[in-house]
Amino acid sequence: MLRTVRVTRYVTPLREGGSLPAIVEAEDDGLYVLKFRGAGQGPLALVAELISGEIGRLLGLCVPELVLMELEECIGRNEPDPEIQDLLLASVGLNLGLDYLPGATMFDAAARDVVDATTASKTVWFDAFVTNIDRTAKNTNLLWWHRQLYLIDHGASLYFHYNCRDIGVAAVKPFPAIKDHVLLPWASQIAEVDGELRAKLDESTVWHITSTVPREWLQESDGPTAEGYTEYLTTRLRSSGFVDDALRAYAQLV
Ligand SMILES: Nc1ncnc2c1ncn2[C@@H]1O[C@H](COP(=O)(O)OP(=O)(O)O)[C@@H](O)[C@H]1O
Ligand SMILES: [Mg+2]
Repeated sequence: MLRTVRVTRYVTPLREGGSLPAIVEAEDDGLYVLKFRGAGQGPLALVAELISGEIGRLLGLCVPELVLMELEECIGRNEPDPEIQDLLLASVGLNLGLDYLPGATMFDAAARDVVDATTASKTVWFDAFVTNIDRTAKNTNLLWWHRQLYLIDHGASLYFHYNCRDIGVAAVKPFPAIKDHVLLPWASQIAEVDGELRAKLDESTVWHITSTVPREWLQESDGPTAEGYTEYLTTRLRSSGFVDDALRAYAQLV
């Protein structure tokens, strides 16, 4: 179950991000990175962020705590910047927040940052499973914080939801984009971590996550139901094609 907290203050936009996420303060005095339901990507990006983020956490990877954030109209009405005001007013209601990690730095392979083989292999396995295309050298969406590697920004994963007429077919489509994963060069243990990660996922653990997605996000979009996401993920798990995609990409790299 995710916590729900109320936004008390808009602090500052995070300009690097394409979806205009922002740092906000909440009633519990915590700072969060807010992903807006009213942003251009639409509510399905928040659905992906929630489901994939919680799956990553379940697999034992570090993901900042996710919370649902209640945004009230008064926050937007008091915002002087018209672009930000529009975004805030379009997002009144439930949004997604991530615990803000102060002082975190972006993982950068070009700066010779290195990751251990187990973490790299688990991350590649996870990103192949949730079809995350946003873990490239140019845009790693990996943060170093207290010497741990944190996974952020899963809004572009689970892209089947933009065109999901036949979930069974979509779930077994190849995922060649895994070849561009920034951690692939270190991912020498994909086959070894497969059993351990797979053992953490089944229909009930997946449903436990998909069923926490706010109904209004699903209703506002043309995407699948919570049952549809569960079917997609459990079918993927059974087929194992995503593990072969990752193994093949690694083999072609080394
Ligand atoms: N939880 C967090 N703690 C600290 N910084 C963050 C956090 N989440 C995002 N950021 C910073 O904000 C930037 C944009 O966030 P991201 O989730 O990647 O959004 P976008 O979908 O717009 O790329 C990140 O590249 C990172 O620098
Ligand atoms: Mg990003």
